Amino acid sequence: MSSTDSSAPGVEIKYTQIFINNEWHKAANGKTFPVINPSTGEEICQVEEGTRADVDKAVLAARKAFDIDSPWRKFEPVARGNLMRKFAGLLRRDIDYLANLETLNNGKPVEDSKGDIYASADCIEYYAGWVDKIVGETIPGAHDQLIFTRHEPIGVCGQIIPWNYPIMMMAWKLGPALACGNVIILKPAEQTPLSALYCAALIKEAGFPPGVVNIVPGDGPECGNAVSSHQDIDKVAFTGSVEVGKKVQEAAAKSNLKRVSLELGGKSPLIICEDADIDYAVSVAHRAIFTNAAQNCTAGSRTFVHAKIYDEFIARSVELAKTRVVGNPFDDMTTQGPQINDSQFKKILSYIESGKQEGAKLECGGEKACEKGYFIKPTIFSGVKDDMKIAREEIFGPVMSVLKFDSYDDVLKRANGTSFGLGAGVITKDLTRGLTFAKQLQAGSVWVNDYDAVCNQAPFGGFKQSGHGRELGRYGLEAYYEVKTVVVKLI
Ligand code: NAI
Ligand code: MG
Repeated sequence: MSSTDSSAPGVEIKYTQIFINNEWHKAANGKTFPVINPSTGEEICQVEEGTRADVDKAVLAARKAFDIDSPWRKFEPVARGNLMRKFAGLLRRDIDYLANLETLNNGKPVEDSKGDIYASADCIEYYAGWVDKIVGETIPGAHDQLIFTRHEPIGVCGQIIPWNYPIMMMAWKLGPALACGNVIILKPAEQTPLSALYCAALIKEAGFPPGVVNIVPGDGPECGNAVSSHQDIDKVAFTGSVEVGKKVQEAAAKSNLKRVSLELGGKSPLIICEDADIDYAVSVAHRAIFTNAAQNCTAGSRTFVHAKIYDEFIARSVELAKTRVVGNPFDDMTTQGPQINDSQFKKILSYIESGKQEGAKLECGGEKACEKGYFIKPTIFSGVKDDMKIAREEIFGPVMSVLKFDSYDDVLKRANGTSFGLGAGVITKDLTRGLTFAKQLQAGSVWVNDYDAVCNQAPFGGFKQSGHGRELGRYGLEAYYEVKTVVVKLI
């Protein structure tokens, strides 16, 4: 289905420069880069292109903001929390504008953008609640010793984020880093810098001291690499592809051994058992893959279905996929916007081609959905085998690959037979079976009778090559503090 072609509302672009020290800067190299509307393929605006020299400038500002005598370092914890709550409130105040801006730049339906923004504000507030609860331990020592630990901020944190959830990825990164008292240089994805730049203005309005949060838009190999290889950045957090995650870790090791946390891709299994309520299972599996045009690191992209319900599952899933409304994300009826850019669009279509060539059966979709922009029809393949490319590699597009199983032992091995380990799901009425899978599946998150049920208070991250470190929840703080041991001899 395609939605009617209503056009985008005029969204005024207010900020296109580099945000350092609470001020707007032109790029050191005098260059700008185009930001493209994925619904049309047309340019929205030009943004200043951050390079190494701009990152250096941001590091100087951040370093100064982290100075031991700086206002930020002298804040009581509660004062940090109050600024964070103020920022969260401003996100909610400007939600209509910000949602339109996010939709213009990323292409997701406006309601989805709003959902992301509410979740982002909640995330910042969640971490604001932690500021005065980041506590160390007292540790037994010798009779004349007092031993305790302090959880101290790491310092200047580089944060490199992707384009699939631009505001939300920013919130996941800023929340724990600010709660722990760090200072930040955030590089938004080159495809989607606009909402981050608007948020920079909100950060200033909230009253954060200059240099605490700096936002430097730019590309990966130059600007992102300047962050991960910087000698005076203490930590880098990255979300994106495995390929670049490895580069970030390598650059961190080769420069100053900065701390690294990585949230990378996945090829996450969703196992549907023979006792599952079929309508429920179909709707969960649909949402698991097609949410956010399947540009989702936890996408349930390997749907394992028990042989006894396989044919019915396929028939119902195809029916449901055909009801998905693909098109203009500003149209209220639309449930699926475009893929982010031409290269992702082409890559996804080539995965679909490989699925056909390797012998999977194309049940629906399989082609572009609109004349303009990067829209792809919801696609379902049945008869997918474990060794096919579409069952092994992250597609990051609206392609459901349905695999058949008849033994639970066997499907567990197949589900775990991947180098990824981000998410996994199981749908069953038998809770012992569900919990056995929960114990044995190799993934950072396992959902029983649900999928992608992510919340701010529960940790999120990967086993194996899906990354290391956790975001969200109390565990998410661990990536943003150093543990100092203090030993006092009682002389
Ligand atoms: P990417 O990993 O290249 O980009 C993510 C971020 O890393 C962007 O901010 C980019 O500028 C930066 N980056 C790129 N090269 C860099 C380098 N050498 N050093 C430092 N930073 C660098 O992802 P891309 O190319 O946009 O998408 C490719 C694939 O990555 C997707 O098809 C998908 O499979 C995966 N991906 C996974 C995401 C996730 O949420 N885990 C998000 C985006 C992409
Ligand atoms: Mg890339």
